[in-house]
Amino acid sequence: MPLVDSHCHLQDEKFDADRADVMARSLDALDWLVIIGDDLPTSRAGVALVSDRIYAAVGVHPYYAATVDDACIDDLRTLAANERVVAIGEIGLDYFKYNDTPRDVQAVGFRRQLDLAVELNLPVVIHNREAFDDTASILEEYAPQLSGGVMHCFAGSTDFAEQVLSWGFYISFAGNVTFPKAEDLRTAARVVPMDRLLVETDAPYLAPQAVRGKRCEPGYVRHTAEYLAEFYGVSYEDLSQRTAENAADLFNISS
Ligand code: NI
Repeated sequence: MPLVDSHCHLQDEKFDADRADVMARSLDALDWLVIIGDDLPTSRAGVALVSDRIYAAVGVHPYYAATVDDACIDDLRTLAANERVVAIGEIGLDYFKYNDTPRDVQAVGFRRQLDLAVELNLPVVIHNREAFDDTASILEEYAPQLSGGVMHCFAGSTDFAEQVLSWGFYISFAGNVTFPKAEDLRTAARVVPMDRLLVETDAPYLAPQAVRGKRCEPGYVRHTAEYLAEFYGVSYEDLSQRTAENAADLFNISS
């Protein structure tokens, strides 16, 4: 049965000791997965791991927005020429207190990478943390030119979910939607139709409740899919199939 992890970081150092085993387990559990970049080195490392059922996205996270200069954009463009690079990401804005990159620097890095996605006709994987209004105003502007996108690891209000849907984007839920205290997130999830829904792990982070506290790995997306199937009142088969089809549609992957 199809099941896809639309967002993981298998190049992360937390997998250095046993990456080959994790990758083998992931491909047993899943149809395919997408490895997402956070900066130039991790984008490069992600592209180095692509194979038959492993795809990559390349991009610079808002934490590292100050590194997005001309040379960086050129390098991302070169990496994106690989046919298994299916998106630009993760990119966006992050106003959480631990991010000391100034907001204007983040906005410039975000826009430059959105321009690259438009140029290359690639969809975008968006990271947003506590930056709803500015993320929305920038994406409002870019959405008509973009080849689609996903709001990854969705965390926001019902209003924000509706805004994201209005751009034609997908909304992706990670393991945190299964946490007992995630009531607000589940309220927002109510407005996401099945044909706009994705699931992801964000591994090695955010292991779902069933395996909470462990290092997360791509196969654990099953727990989130099972949880959401029950939440939406559909079968697990239906939810895993639909989310796999949606991810294939977003990333232009023909299975
Ligand atoms: Ni991520």
